[in-house]
Amino acid sequence: MEILKLIHMLCAMLSISGFVGRGVLLATHSPVMQRKWIRIAPHVIDTLLLGTAIAMVVGLELSVLSTPWLLAKITALLVYIALGIVVMRGGKSPRLRIAAWLAAIVVFAYIVAVAVTKNPVFFLPA
Ligand code: HEM
Repeated sequence: MEILKLIHMLCAMLSISGFVGRGVLLATHSPVMQRKWIRIAPHVIDTLLLGTAIAMVVGLELSVLSTPWLLAKITALLVYIALGIVVMRGGKSPRLRIAAWLAAIVVFAYIVAVAVTKNPVFFLPA
């Protein structure tokens, strides 16, 4: 289980670094964005991130519906994905895309905080 968690955390780090990096490449109209590996790598990383997540949920025999921090992570992950779609294909408004990019980074930070504290409302006093 520890190795799964390590891969999961490594993929989480790669996922957000890649996301931040791609935002910069997009904003600077970098030709690097056209390279094949830069389009494929995020899918490989995110599939591993989710794959290890599912493997841990199954392996640890966690019940998703009765584990609030898991529900919060899954919900926030969907929001992160949706914001990512706005950033990557968000049409002609650079402001909207930058706002979505920043919001996605905040949502990602929330996911990590929930992961570490195992508390979806970690910011509220206990
Ligand atoms: C962007 C998405 C995600 C990020 C950044 C992320 C991040 C992390 C981090 C940093 C940890 C280690 C926490 C610690 O023990 O200190 C962790 C553990 C874990 N994550 Fe995720 N995660 C993500 C998505 C998910 C999803 C969608 C699920 C479930 C469907 C999930 C399930 C788990 C489980 C089961 C653990 C192990 C908990 C334990 O130690 O018992 N993660 N995650």
